[in-house]
Order: sequence, then structure tokens, then C-alpha cells
Amino acid sequence: MGFKQAVWARAWQGWYALWNGVEHGLFRGREYGLAVPFGYRVFTPWFETGTGGHFSRRYGRAERSGSLHISADRGYLLDALTYHALFLPGDIAECGVYRGGSAMLLAQALAEHPAAHGKRLHLFDTFSGMPDSAVPSRDYFKPGAFGDTSVAQVLARLGELRDQCVVHAGLFATTLPGLPAHERFCFVHLDADIYPSVHEACVFLWPRITVGGMLVCDDYGFRHLRSAARAAMDDYFATVPEKPIALPTGQALVYKVCST
Ligand SMILES: C[S@@+](CC[C@H](N)C(=O)[O-])C[C@H]1O[C@@H](n2cnc3c(N)ncnc32)[C@H](O)[C@@H]1O
Repeated sequence: MGFKQAVWARAWQGWYALWNGVEHGLFRGREYGLAVPFGYRVFTPWFETGTGGHFSRRYGRAERSGSLHISADRGYLLDALTYHALFLPGDIAECGVYRGGSAMLLAQALAEHPAAHGKRLHLFDTFSGMPDSAVPSRDYFKPGAFGDTSVAQVLARLGELRDQCVVHAGLFATTLPGLPAHERFCFVHLDADIYPSVHEACVFLWPRITVGGMLVCDDYGFRHLRSAARAAMDDYFATVPEKPIALPTGQALVYKVCST
């Protein structure tokens, strides 16, 4: 890392730490937060900690495991959308697991859902970091980023939730085609950041999502990933009827309405 990049990274971390402090101090535990930049007071159930609500309990467990990589608002959306998708036929898939934080949210939603009996959560990752296809000038991340994890660590964090999970360790290009031809999904969480991986996952998984099901891409709206995840999503969804809906959280939601 060059000097300029190191200074920028330090400043960015400082800003992020400051914002986390503001978030915890001003908003956590409050029913109404603030929608920046509109300035409205809005209902913010993702900050309702300590209320005993289902989401705060599930998010709290993921947070305590030390593996969480997504903010409370994004976690809330994942949790709420999964709840609805689970009434449909098909399993859940996550492409991009890293240390298992978002997987833990999905696994808890699955374990506690009234209609989810027999459904499984498929977890796809190299579990050894970003593949060689990552190009930092386009994808922001370089090969090997997110390498500080392993299948054993993720399974240990998941605890009893591991029983409903199927781990597919390796490159998407190898593991996705290894799925049985009849496999269908009601919900896909795509959090792989880089162009080739996001595109590959869409090509393989979108045709296998049940009508009424959903795909959430975690990285769509983040500026540093505009030529990576967002470009890959836009390129893929230009070829099918459904289009990504950009969310204020930075995620994108695609809702399957056509059977093609
Ligand atoms: C941002 S992390 C996922 C974070 C995780 N969803 C969370 O919230 O904690 C992105 C992950 O995608 C994985 N990944 C990216 N491209 C991949 C590919 N082609 N095959 C397998 N894993 C891939 C990386 O190994 C990395 O662990």
C-alpha cells in the first residue's frame, strides 16, 4: 500500500469508527432514527436493541460471534425478506460467506421459520479469500482479500445452526454447476463484491429462483464497487425482464416475477 493510500485508509477507518459511535450513541435502542440526508425521523426497527424482538435477538447473536460484516439496516432487510421468501418452494443460497456473519442471520431466520421445514442454507465461498479473477482497478479488492477465514471456523460459529447448512467450498465456477439439476432457491444473498463472481452467480442462480423469490445483492450501491458488483448486476439483468431495485441501504433487490 502506498503512502497516500495508507493515509486515506486511516482517515476512512477513523470516520467509520466515529460514525459507529454516533450510531450506537444516538440511534441504537430508539424506535425512530434519522434518514440522512432527508432529515426525516423514520421508524428504524433495525436499531431496536434490547426489545426482545426477533430481529434484534438474531442480529445480536451474529454481532456477538464477531463475524458480522453487514450493518443493522442491511441485516434487517435480509431477515425480513427471507421471512417472506421462505413460504415459497426452494432452499436459500448465500454466495460470499467470509466469516459467516450474514450466514448466521439467514440460518437463524431459517431455523425459526414456521414454514421452513426441510429447507437448507447453501453456503458458497472459497473460504480462502477473493479469487485470482479480482482486478483491484475494477473490483476494489485484490486476490486473497477476505482470506482470514476457514470452513471450520464458520461451522464452529454457526453452532447448532450448521445442521441445516450445506457448505460448498471452492470457486463459484466449480461449485455452482455441482448442484443437482432439480435444485431451486426461494432466496439468494449475493455478497461476492467483484464483477466476475457476481456475474457468474447471477447467470447460474437467477434461472433457478422460484417465481416470487428474491435475490439481494449486498454491494450494488456502494460507490467503490460501481464497476464491480453494480456493473455485473446491470449487465446480467439487462438480459432478463426483471431489474435491480436500488435500496437506500446500498443493497439491491431483484424480485422474480417471470418464469424465464
Ligand atoms: C464481502 S465477503 C462476504 C461477507 C459476508 N457475506 C458477510 O456478511 O459476512 C465476499 C466473499 O466472497 C467470496 N468470493 C468472491 N468471489 C468468489 C468466487 N468466485 N468463488 C467463491 N467465493 C468467492 C470471497 O472469498 C469473500 O469471502
